[in-house]
Amino acid sequence: MKAITLRRPGGLDHLERTEIADPGAPAPGEIRVRVHASSLNFHDLGVVTGRLPTDDGRIPMSDGAGVVEAIGDGVTEFAVGDAVVSTFFPDWLDGGPTRADFATTPGDGVDGYAREVVVRPQQWFTRAPLGYSHAEAATLTTAALTAWRALVVDDALKAGDTVLVQGTGGVSIFALQFAKRMGATVIATSSSDEKLEKARALGADHLINYKRDTDWASKVLDVTNGRGVDNVVEVGGPDTLGQSIRACRIGGHIALIGVLTGIAGQIPTAELMRRHQKLQGLIVGSRRHQIDMIRAIDANGIKPVIDSTYPLDGIADAFRHQASGKHFGKVCLSI
Ligand SMILES: NC(=O)c1ccc[n+]([C@@H]2O[C@H](COP(=O)([O-])OP(=O)(O)OC[C@H]3O[C@@H](n4cnc5c(N)ncnc54)[C@H](OP(=O)(O)O)[C@@H]3O)[C@@H](O)[C@H]2O)c1
Repeated sequence: MKAITLRRPGGLDHLERTEIADPGAPAPGEIRVRVHASSLNFHDLGVVTGRLPTDDGRIPMSDGAGVVEAIGDGVTEFAVGDAVVSTFFPDWLDGGPTRADFATTPGDGVDGYAREVVVRPQQWFTRAPLGYSHAEAATLTTAALTAWRALVVDDALKAGDTVLVQGTGGVSIFALQFAKRMGATVIATSSSDEKLEKARALGADHLINYKRDTDWASKVLDVTNGRGVDNVVEVGGPDTLGQSIRACRIGGHIALIGVLTGIAGQIPTAELMRRHQKLQGLIVGSRRHQIDMIRAIDANGIKPVIDSTYPLDGIADAFRHQASGKHFGKVCLSI
């Protein structure tokens, strides 16, 4: 069967289309899934470009969605024909986080979903939302669950809250959609006026071009009458965190998610302390979080924003498109 593997030391020129052995029938407790789609994340980009080194011959892609083709003895949660979506931490089922690495994450520590069929323990998947295409379902594993956790699990978002989302990539657009659907006011930033108009069409209430308004925290304070936002979905990292602290209200919550501007830097710790803010680092979420999120999606009908879909053989072009920053929302692979 068809698969994509990554040769060391990584780089888009080191993605190879290969034939690998069919994994066969599922053992007890396992399911066999025909993978139909995946979606690209900044993390996957780090793996395939070699910035996050992985094993030679690794099959990339953390996100996978498809159909159950066969079930092993003792599988109770799924039946043949079910539409399913993969989880980011296959061994984090419920409760608090236990992992501070990507050793079990598909497409990084273990083989991922850039292939046609997988056989895996049933807990590595959840069911997909009702009425979702496979590409739509494949956007949930990483980007959507991170946004969900930032707003709902770690911060108990409620109607009337104000949320700041940074940029218009996968995580931020899901955060915008979840926040609006839950009755929040959303302030969206982007480097592009055209993308800001698309964010407005999704319901964003206030728009800031962070390239033009480099002091964007002041703008946030202007539109919130000096109060600041309740929740920041912080995807920038070191170069944006200082302004996020200024833009967040006293006692507000900052979900520290991204590394778009780097992996270390200076933090105005005294200001964070003086403002009684909660700074929460997080990596995606548990299987239980994913099940809860999908239940919410079934109820509220949110559909992912898919910028573009590439065939599996076009995986390098898909990553070039993501790296260009031209996308709005998610870039997907059709498998
Ligand atoms: N902790 C976690 O669990 C987790 C999970 C998923 C992602 N992440 C991280 O979150 C970040 C975003 O991931 P993604 O998959 O959503 O990426 P993505 O889809 O590639 O989105 C990137 C977008 O971020 C925006 N951006 C870039 N630099 C920015 C800046 N200085 N200020 C504000 N926005 C900026 C740009 O939007 P515009 O073009 O609109 O300017 C760009 O298109 C990455 O650092 C990723 O590693 C973390």
